[in-house]
Amino acid sequence: MPLVTTTEMFKKAYEGGYAVGAFNVNNMEIVQGITEACQEQKAPVVLQVSKGARAYANHTYLVKMVEAAVKECPDIPIALHLDHGPDFETCKSCIDGGFTSVMIDCSSKPFDENVEITKKVVDYAHEHGVVVEAELGTLAGVEDDVKVSAEDSSYTRPEEVEEFVTRTGCDSLAIAIGTSHGAYKFTPDQCTRNENGILVPPPLRFDVLEEVSKRLPGFPIVLHGSSSVPQNFVDIINAHGGKMPDAIGIPEEELRKAATMSVCKINIDSDIRLAITATIREYFDEHPDHFDPRQYLKPARQAVKDMVAHKLIHVLGCNGKA
Ligand code: G3H
Ligand code: 13P
Ligand code: ZN
Repeated sequence: MPLVTTTEMFKKAYEGGYAVGAFNVNNMEIVQGITEACQEQKAPVVLQVSKGARAYANHTYLVKMVEAAVKECPDIPIALHLDHGPDFETCKSCIDGGFTSVMIDCSSKPFDENVEITKKVVDYAHEHGVVVEAELGTLAGVEDDVKVSAEDSSYTRPEEVEEFVTRTGCDSLAIAIGTSHGAYKFTPDQCTRNENGILVPPPLRFDVLEEVSKRLPGFPIVLHGSSSVPQNFVDIINAHGGKMPDAIGIPEEELRKAATMSVCKINIDSDIRLAITATIREYFDEHPDHFDPRQYLKPARQAVKDMVAHKLIHVLGCNGKA
């Protein structure tokens, strides 16, 4: 099947009480690892490309790699999405350049400005059969070159969502309920420690999610910053020359719960980076004489595939839903 928009995927996810995984892609091994897992698990998937990914790999290469994945994975719906589109021009370039979905992220701008730019993107996107994700509320963490501190982050205000969605016509809405970008989602002093000394992050604001869903019945909600930062990857990285003390993510149980609610799309990027880095660091330590990139990129790709398969089955619940 050709690239699809997220409309049908999200409708089925909402009704079925699961979420679709949205994974960031930056190179061929990442595209392959994700889509091979989705094809095997019969899972719909969103492949998303950030401004940084376009700067790194080039728009055309990314589109062509995703098109190759579509051909190789004929049994699953795949959407190609712009992640954190910073302005109208970037969104337009992706809409004109083969994407089926774009995010316009004006969440750091005042409400009316966010509405105005989002609406402009929605009007253009809808004329071209493309869907739009928008954002209200600000996540902490690092995305592209922007770093938002925990103090400057703010939860989505449920009382704003109906007006925002009505005025913009957006197709899905990313909200801030306590997730955050990157591998350091919380500082140790924001966390408690369990009996084994493991950091336990503060819980997500499910009350905000519930209030948003009540005001937007049937409307697909998106969670950014939803990597779990698996400790086995962090431990492997630290055991093989890396330095990632106190890296911490969102517990899988919380994401599972969100997936059964109105959350239809869950964004994961950092866990892909961790899977690749852990695998390559370990590989280099164990094979100091190897220098063919295929030798270490092959297990790195497999690690992405295994990690994604785990998410599809145990976190998102979208296996078998293609
Ligand atoms: O939300 C941010 C994503 O992880 C993309 O990161 O802008 O470094 O490609 P990037
Ligand atoms: P993570 O950093 O938690 O993987 O979040 C990715 C993301 O939100 C991409 O938009
Ligand atoms: Zn994000």
